[in-house]
Amino acid sequence: MDKLKVMTIFGTRPEAIKMAPLVKELEARPEFDSLCCVTAQHRQMLDTVLDIFKLEPQFDLDIMEASQTLSTITSKCLLGLEGVFKQVRPDLVLVHGDTSTTFAGALAAFYQQIAVGHVEAGLRTGDRYSPFPEEMNRSMVGRLADLHFCPTEANRRNLEAEGITKGLFVTGNTVIDALQTTVAPEFSFAEEVLNGLDYGKKKVILVTCHRRENYGQPMEDIMAALSRVAWTHPEAELVYPVHLSPVVQECAHRHLEGVENIHLIAPLDVEEMHNLMARSYLVMTDSGGLQEEAPALGKPVLVLRKETERPEAVEAGTVKLAGVDYDRITELADQLLDDPAAYQEMAHAVNPYGDGKACRRIADGILYHFGRTGRPPEPFKS
Ligand code: UD1
Ligand code: UDP
Repeated sequence: MDKLKVMTIFGTRPEAIKMAPLVKELEARPEFDSLCCVTAQHRQMLDTVLDIFKLEPQFDLDIMEASQTLSTITSKCLLGLEGVFKQVRPDLVLVHGDTSTTFAGALAAFYQQIAVGHVEAGLRTGDRYSPFPEEMNRSMVGRLADLHFCPTEANRRNLEAEGITKGLFVTGNTVIDALQTTVAPEFSFAEEVLNGLDYGKKKVILVTCHRRENYGQPMEDIMAALSRVAWTHPEAELVYPVHLSPVVQECAHRHLEGVENIHLIAPLDVEEMHNLMARSYLVMTDSGGLQEEAPALGKPVLVLRKETERPEAVEAGTVKLAGVDYDRITELADQLLDDPAAYQEMAHAVNPYGDGKACRRIADGILYHFGRTGRPPEPFKS
């Protein structure tokens, strides 16, 4: 029987981190001919992930521009992928999550009538402008895709509520697969600032913030709140690897540069990031990925957003939606820094997002869909 030709398409840091273990899984299985195409919507932040996981994409569209807009990303991906599909015609294209690369990848495949599999399917806030443009991207990919690999049962129910009832698999999130390969007890950081921190005596707060819907006043208020937390808590050390977006760089440096216990550093590679998280006291973030990783490592999270499409860890009590309001963010941070009981209540490891076997289930789901096996994978149960 011919091998199934499966092409993974991704372009940004989080997609690469979450697709890397899946590419490895497909490469290891004799039933698949695995091809990889990166759009390079992110350049440097993508390349560090490719290096760490030793991925060598067959196609690289190299589309990133310094001040790219949603339209330039989408149109360059669409045109580039049309060229790729003229050279090879996969049996299945896999896209991940909710970025512009994800949407354009699914649409480009659909235009060629190539089947689409959506990894990390079914996350929703119900607000089309938040996160922006991710909520609409993932909803549209939900319509375009033939196969939907939902991390959780709640994600599957979201799709069913939209009338999407075929080709659904509950697999867990591949980020938990990735996390199992990166965290090491004896890890030594390449970033010197991180080796110099006293993780036992100081309360290290890991910070990230980059979302487009937070640009403007919300991001101003978040940065002001971080500054206030640092000034009033000398026992804390805030470590903030700043996203390379010029908007984020400008805002973060204007508010936080020069505060003694705030460390503004370059984006970390994923091994450094996961190991820093494992040693941190608290995580404050608007990132999607960090909301999934930190609970698995038993780290409390304050989410710097108005909503989340990841309610599972909020329900488990390890994540709180802090919002983007100065007073609320500082109040919640103060509580976690000052009140040991409040901290302990949130600091326990939970795994609502996966058991490290998501990639295996996705590969099995593909084989099932193409009639190569009679049995679907057992769903992930948290
Ligand atoms: C994108 C995704 C977002 C995801 C985030 C992960 C869209 C619309 N947004 O947002 O869903 O959460 O990635 O980080 O798809 N830059 C560099 N080098 C890099 C990466 C970015 O210089 O390696 C700079 C460039 O100036 C670029 C800017 O960052 O123009 C913004 O990148 P872009 O991909 O457009 O948006 P993100 O905010 O990263
Ligand atoms: N990450 C990283 N280095 C950093 C910041 C984040 O490796 O400096 C990782 C993080 O651990 C997670 C992913 O990147 O796996 C999340 O990416 P990001 O926050 O950019 O995007 P989102 O998840 O919000 O889409």
